[in-house]
Amino acid sequence: MEASLLVIPLVILFLSTSANGHGLMVGYYSQTCPEAEDIISETVAKAVKANPGVAASLIRMHFHDCFVRGCDGSILLDSIEGNTAEKDHPANNPSLRGYDIIDEAKSKLEAKCPGVVSCADVVALAARDSAYQAGGFSWAVEGGRRDGRISHQSDVSENLPPPSFDVNQLTRLFASKQLSQEEMVTLSGAHSIGVSHCASFTGDRLYNFSGRGGQDPSMDSHYALQLKAKCPPSNPSNVVVQLDPLTPTNLDVKYYVDLQYKRGLLKSDQTLMSNDAASRQVNINAQYANVWRKNFGRAMVKMGTIDVLTGSQGEIRKQCHAPN
Ligand code: HEM
Ligand SMILES: *[C@@H]1O[C@H](CO)[C@@H](O)[C@H](O)[C@H]1NC(C)=O
Repeated sequence: MEASLLVIPLVILFLSTSANGHGLMVGYYSQTCPEAEDIISETVAKAVKANPGVAASLIRMHFHDCFVRGCDGSILLDSIEGNTAEKDHPANNPSLRGYDIIDEAKSKLEAKCPGVVSCADVVALAARDSAYQAGGFSWAVEGGRRDGRISHQSDVSENLPPPSFDVNQLTRLFASKQLSQEEMVTLSGAHSIGVSHCASFTGDRLYNFSGRGGQDPSMDSHYALQLKAKCPPSNPSNVVVQLDPLTPTNLDVKYYVDLQYKRGLLKSDQTLMSNDAASRQVNINAQYANVWRKNFGRAMVKMGTIDVLTGSQGEIRKQCHAPN
């Protein structure tokens, strides 16, 4: 009896790890830390209720973790004497927040099951739980990522897309992470929540289009006027603007509706309308929320497999901000 109880999870473990080919599996902690997913989702739910902006930040954190050195928690490591970490690159500092939520979940996990749940998995699960809080939909997250020990600021620029990228540049960069253009368009729907600092778009869209001055003709002029009022050319660095003017705190398909009305905020958003396949997909997503939701969950799972450390690679950090 006891033997068969043990054999079944082992068979499942074998089948799922061999089936997906990257060593991750759904329900990874169901034996070793059964409460892990609940601990994380409760922590995220509480944090998002106190501050809805947290959901956006935690979804973005998983993206920024996965694209730089793979999903290995490298985004969480602090800079130390002699090494500036990813988190202090201008793409992350000061805009990326929510590290305290990850720390809170991790310390509860360490109290319950020390040394078991990786920080990289906490980030992946927190992104899923954030989507549930902001969008009311969810997906099964594969676990089993292990934490890396390295984080270099210098790895960020070539691996994260800047907001000045056009659709071809975005497609190429995502392809280098084994993500298709379709998945890129799907994942861009995350810009249905959250904010951007003025500096991320004022040059491209409002004041210096193509480096020749003036406004981007692919932006609705009324929207541009509203943005200019919020972001004067002097660019106070702390001002932020909502990425989705229609439903700024709901993770939904209104981002795609914004694009249809030339109200994408970043150049990298509106550029999706300049490509036939991408703009067709924008139109479908704008109309069929359930199609987008299902694809978004799938694409997040796929993003969560980028260059993961598994098995005996890496470590399970005791604290997320420093290697053991
Ligand atoms: C397609 C290429 C992408 C580019 C060029 C891009 C760029 C940006 C930029 C510039 C910001 C604003 C940062 C600031 O100035 O404060 C931002 C915010 C955000 N991004 Fe992206 N992003 C991309 C894809 C993604 C993906 C794939 C996700 C997640 C799946 C994501 C999630 C977010 C979220 C949720 C925010 C709001 C963050 C907050 O409110 O704290 N982005 N992105
Ligand atoms: C506009 O962009 C061009 C080309 O990148 C640059 O040389 C110029 O300094 C920019 N102008 C302003 C006002 O930022």
